[in-house]
Amino acid sequence: MSAIQTDFDRIALLSAEDGWTQNNHYHNFLLRHVPAKCESALEIGCGTGAFSRRLAQHAQKVLALDLSPEMIRIARQNSTQFSNIEFQVADVIVWNFPAETFDCIASLATLHHLPLRETLLRMRDSLKIGGVLLVLDLFERARNVLKPEGLFDSVLNAMAIPTSVSLRFLHHGRLLPPREVRAAWAAHEQHDTYPTMNEVKMLCAEILPGAKVKKHLLWRYSVVWKKKPV
Ligand SMILES: C[S@@+](CC[C@H](N)C(=O)[O-])C[C@H]1O[C@@H](n2cnc3c(N)ncnc32)[C@H](O)[C@@H]1O
Repeated sequence: MSAIQTDFDRIALLSAEDGWTQNNHYHNFLLRHVPAKCESALEIGCGTGAFSRRLAQHAQKVLALDLSPEMIRIARQNSTQFSNIEFQVADVIVWNFPAETFDCIASLATLHHLPLRETLLRMRDSLKIGGVLLVLDLFERARNVLKPEGLFDSVLNAMAIPTSVSLRFLHHGRLLPPREVRAAWAAHEQHDTYPTMNEVKMLCAEILPGAKVKKHLLWRYSVVWKKKPV
């Protein structure tokens, strides 16, 4: 856990500004699913708070948690005009999720750092009835091109690379992130692992019945689930 915190303290200092990223690209998609009446929202792994600030325009209160003190410092610095966001340094693995409290719980590009089943269960139990769970995260690509899933992922990957490069150029005027940002992510990704789409789908079918699981172009999947009365 301390390696993850060190990685993200380093990455935070290199990503203090908001702007297009492969995660932010899906903010509008996720925000479309926030309940119309949202008193209380929770974000897990908020990073520098780009999504928390968007969520705060749809929710009365947002509680945003992150393991990295540097991420939280920058998130607070960038959010001074949002009096309805509370940022806290917290390790979600040991954080005490209050029961049936939130109208919306979101997590972007963070669940792959956490035990997936246990964290989804804790998020689920912390939602009010009618509340919505929103997940965006990375999946492990199927690599065997002789199988339909592997072939599909290879085609998707071949389309995703030029799309991502073009979008970065459009938004930042450069084809690749700066060298020091690439180096920080490359060091971090050495100890990153992702679930396969199949694992995500099977887990959601088991513990989030009716969840909409979607594979997106830029190497990410989403889960949207509304909690119904049992
Ligand atoms: C790839 S970043 C994503 C940040 C942000 N959600 C975004 O979309 O840009 C993953 C974030 O998860 C946080 N994180 C990782 N493990 C965590 C944990 N156990 N508890 C809380 N946050 C954690 C990291 O500090 C980091 O800010």
